[in-house]
Amino acid sequence: MNRLRSSSLSRTLTHISFFLCISFVAAAAGFNLTTIGFDEGYTPLFGDFNILRSSDGKSVSLLLNRYSGSGFISSSLYNHGFFSAKIKLPSDYTAGVVVAFYTSNADVFEKTHDELDFEFLGNVQGKEWRFQTNVYGNGSTNRGREERYTLWFDPTREFHRYSILWTAKNIIFYVDEVPIREVVRSDAMGGDYPSKPMALYATIWDASNWATAGGKYKVNYKYAPFVSDFSDLVLQGCQSDPIQEFSSTICADEDAELERAEYAVITPERRRAMRVFRQKYMYYSYCYDILRYPVPPPECVITPSERRRFKDTGRVKFGSRRRRRSRRPSRLPAGGNQADV
Ligand SMILES: *[C@@H]1O[C@H](CO)[C@@H](O)[C@H](O)[C@H]1NC(C)=O
Ligand SMILES: *[C@@H]1O[C@H](CO)[C@@H](O)[C@H](O)[C@H]1NC(C)=O
Repeated sequence: MNRLRSSSLSRTLTHISFFLCISFVAAAAGFNLTTIGFDEGYTPLFGDFNILRSSDGKSVSLLLNRYSGSGFISSSLYNHGFFSAKIKLPSDYTAGVVVAFYTSNADVFEKTHDELDFEFLGNVQGKEWRFQTNVYGNGSTNRGREERYTLWFDPTREFHRYSILWTAKNIIFYVDEVPIREVVRSDAMGGDYPSKPMALYATIWDASNWATAGGKYKVNYKYAPFVSDFSDLVLQGCQSDPIQEFSSTICADEDAELERAEYAVITPERRRAMRVFRQKYMYYSYCYDILRYPVPPPECVITPSERRRFKDTGRVKFGSRRRRRSRRPSRLPAGGNQADV
């Protein structure tokens, strides 16, 4: 068997075993969400002529062509919230094309902004799509908190739901109903935990210089337009005026509602799916990148089983995405919380 065939076979086996694991999660059906039309919650941000709305106003396509990318933004800022959409990514050759779904307040707080990201990093035809999540608080952009992953499905074939939950206590990134990352607020994080009202952004743009294999593959406009579809939009949370002094009582009801919601609780089944997802599909984590962070930042939960999979660069060791029969335990770095989850 040639290398390509064997790696795609092992990929298929990985996907099948993950499907078995998430079937518990999926069996509980999707989240009970209230979706809104585009005009009920969002406005164009840039490249208006590249934003195509469906006739029922419930979905929208963002285009990137040689003239411009495009993007939309929520009409309000939210002080905590659940931000979610079903997204279908552009297919075929999309190297250098970034599709981002994120919350930010950089327009209001230039130097001390907060941000929570999903960023899809383009694709060379036939390869797996890769994406990253990132968290910034109060302008802490010199502390990148990236995690990078592949997916258990082809995100260009059909719509999948991507969601960001942000409460005063934690942040959860979801792909469909699978939580893929949780950041629990700790005192040690201080201002690095996002704490000011944010808007939701969705964009498509040309990031030739870094997105795909570190900029090796550029956008090729022969394949344009690149189209990313968004539907089943959800905005839940406390609409806030960012300039007004906000007291915690203003949003108390909305916060309580958010924290009661189904997606705010990670059930044992979902936690298991999260663990398996991270074992199989996460290929970079800043928490294990001890060249950048000799002492992992305070929110990092250093899990021995994860630690063993990563090199000191935070990148996954070659071959460790497949099951190994035996491994010697590796040394844990100094510092960080050690939890055998
Ligand atoms: C879904 O949410 C709506 C509105 O919040 C509620 O009225 C309905 O009872 C919920 N359905 C289920 C099955 O929980
Ligand atoms: C955010 O950063 C600003 C400017 O560096 C600082 O004055 C402020 O105290 C920080 N806020 C928090 C909550 O740490």
